[in-house]
Amino acid sequence: MTDIDRLNARAREIAAREMAALLNRTTASKALYERALKTLPLGVGSSFQMGDPYPIYLTHGKGANVWDVDGNEYVDTHGGFGCMVYGHAHPKIVEAITRAAGRGTHFAAPTPEAVELAEVICDRYELEQIRFCNSGTEATMHAIRIARAHTGRDHVVKAEGSYHGHHDTVMFSVVPNADVMGGRDQPASTPMSLGTPKWLADYTHAVPFNDLTVLSNLLDERGGEIACMIIEPVMMNIGIAQPQPGYLQGLKDLLHKHGAVLIYDEVKTGTAIARGGAGDRYGVRPDLTCLAKATFGGTPGAAFGGRADIMSSIERGAAQQGTFNGNPLVAAASLAALTEVMTPDAYDYLAALGTRLAAGCTRAIERAGLPAHTVDLGAKGCVSYRPTPLTNYRDFLDTNLDLYAASYPWMVNRGIFMTPGDEEQWTISVQHTETDIDQYIEAFSGLCDALSA
Ligand SMILES: Cc1ncc(COP(=O)(O)O)c(C=O)c1O
Repeated sequence: MTDIDRLNARAREIAAREMAALLNRTTASKALYERALKTLPLGVGSSFQMGDPYPIYLTHGKGANVWDVDGNEYVDTHGGFGCMVYGHAHPKIVEAITRAAGRGTHFAAPTPEAVELAEVICDRYELEQIRFCNSGTEATMHAIRIARAHTGRDHVVKAEGSYHGHHDTVMFSVVPNADVMGGRDQPASTPMSLGTPKWLADYTHAVPFNDLTVLSNLLDERGGEIACMIIEPVMMNIGIAQPQPGYLQGLKDLLHKHGAVLIYDEVKTGTAIARGGAGDRYGVRPDLTCLAKATFGGTPGAAFGGRADIMSSIERGAAQQGTFNGNPLVAAASLAALTEVMTPDAYDYLAALGTRLAAGCTRAIERAGLPAHTVDLGAKGCVSYRPTPLTNYRDFLDTNLDLYAASYPWMVNRGIFMTPGDEEQWTISVQHTETDIDQYIEAFSGLCDALSA
């Protein structure tokens, strides 16, 4: 037996023991799951909320904490899949929503607050114009449509293994299995979901993240047909892969050389990792940016926008609409979040907490000699169970699933609410304290010690 076989066997023992304990303390979740199965496929409102064997159902959240239906209290690092950088029920956001609700929750007519929110977002992200929508999926769908309308071309490029929401164009090469993903020089465009038209695969091309050569070859071959490339400037949904120096500028130059549009999907990175998202943090601005999650105060808001000459496709007949776009509750929550909560001081605070968390986890990993590393991007970060940082999706396929499977129930049993999935990150909020962070580090250190015992 090699060292890694021994480690994996130990991890599987821990996973089995901890999962049994987790099931024991979440019997009300189990009962609710059984009830929910009758009306909700898989017992949840979105397949990403699924759990194995059932999800943990929550009742409420306050500050850095959430509570489940069994009454267990947790430090929340799930953050509603990366939205809740302000923490739960932040007083300023609650007050803004309450005030707005008293004045009418919906008009489907423009309001001063929607105009102000557009101004605030344009300023933070250096965008000339934006339009609102209601989810990250809609933001990427609209941005792609506008890019197609602007260029008069139909084809789209994306990074292999990236997730941009659940509309058909981007549902290719999301989590491809190794046996169907094709060669590195020409990744296959495999659908993630049943029900996706097969012919669409011909219009969505996957290229590896952090690789300009494959993109350059594709553009040389098909450049005249390619409307845009949509990319997460920091690739998440595989843990975290950061762009290598020069990559983002290289992308932009190559796409522009071929008359194509660069779209950043900042649904996850926006507002979370810097005031103006990854475009701000890494210094390369795209043509269009998609925003949702943390930018909208914990409400179902979203937007996309950028260059006015591209956005003006809307004035020339590209469809962009939605009953709830710019809704008053969303506008009020987002304005409070962006102008009163996510201030420069908040980013300094999140940077300090994030570094404390990542450094504490790194110490534990090194002490135990585990094949893992951490990434720190302020409010967002992660432990990835492979020794060195990821550069692209294929690296993610090397992560050690046994270690992840042990970590999830271990951490939840010690009061840390985590995202169910090794592709996710932690999200911390301005309401987390050093004590919350230290609770995470202590629990994680215990796991590392148990794995190396
Ligand atoms: C990078 C990215 N883009 C788009 C989406 C889709 O956003 P939504 O779930 O709001 O439709 C997600 C959701 O997780 C995401 O992570």
